[in-house]
Amino acid sequence: MDASRNVLITGASGGIGYELAKLFARERNNLVLVARSGDKLAQVGTALQANGVTVKTIALDLAQVPAPRFLFDQVQREGVAIDILINNAGFGALGNFADMPEEQILGQINLNVVALTQLTRLFLPPMLARRSGRIMNVASTAGFQPGPLMAVYYATKAYVLSFTEAIANEVHNSGVTVTCFCPGPTHTGFGKRAGNDQSRVFKQLGAMNADKVALDGYRAVMEGRALAISGIHNWAVAQSTRFAPRKMVTAISRWVSEKAE
Ligand SMILES: NC(=O)c1ccc[n+]([C@@H]2O[C@H](COP(=O)([O-])OP(=O)(O)OC[C@H]3O[C@@H](n4cnc5c(N)ncnc54)[C@H](OP(=O)(O)O)[C@@H]3O)[C@@H](O)[C@H]2O)c1
Repeated sequence: MDASRNVLITGASGGIGYELAKLFARERNNLVLVARSGDKLAQVGTALQANGVTVKTIALDLAQVPAPRFLFDQVQREGVAIDILINNAGFGALGNFADMPEEQILGQINLNVVALTQLTRLFLPPMLARRSGRIMNVASTAGFQPGPLMAVYYATKAYVLSFTEAIANEVHNSGVTVTCFCPGPTHTGFGKRAGNDQSRVFKQLGAMNADKVALDGYRAVMEGRALAISGIHNWAVAQSTRFAPRKMVTAISRWVSEKAE
């Protein structure tokens, strides 16, 4: 791959996606940035162009089922070959599953699972044909255990983890790498949207800053690692779930999602 690549990042208007976009822009990669809010994306685009790179912004709700196909077609029409795809857009919602509005449940599945899978399926074959490319799917440390009070979110991230590690194996030695990146709790707009910003996990256990997390993600994708967990403490927690009884792991997972005193 030459120095100037085309990088597509979903969820780049804020949080981890924005920090990733800054890192790729600094390394002089051209960007295609996607999120719902066109205004925020336009501001981000203008700021990042100061690095002397081309930034294209596409305002799109990826939870709408035709959106990933629309995005792929749009990029194809403009003749942009995507060298690096970062499936970062995602959201969670706190609450008992039985009370959760159907729209929130399906919204999480459509964005975190369906859009990510479809974009991977659409952009991977051209990369394989060129024998060059990188995909990074952003999962979460939530993917390593069940999550009472955020049951759907945790399950979507378990899907991303399993799916991505499997695809990484399938493309081994193809010239293309697929990376599953797992941040732990991170200070972004995520907690407010999820409604868990007052939970123990954010208030008592400590969250990382988005720029540090993004740097870990950037390194992981550029090294072509199949799996990377941001933060040594998050790595240790993820490992511990493999040996502890599942009932206990699930109970602890509920405890961290509950509101801090
Ligand atoms: N923050 C954490 O504690 C944490 C921990 C582990 C994993 N993660 C994962 O990290 C990723 C990034 O999250 P973040 O923490 O940076 O959250 P964030 O600050 O809320 O940013 C989410 C980004 O995704 C975009 N987005 C949300 N819904 C979208 C949709 N339907 N279509 C297109 N774009 C959409 C948002 O922009 P618009 O609102 O403009 O659409 C925003 O740019 C997510 O996959 C999340 O699950 C986060």
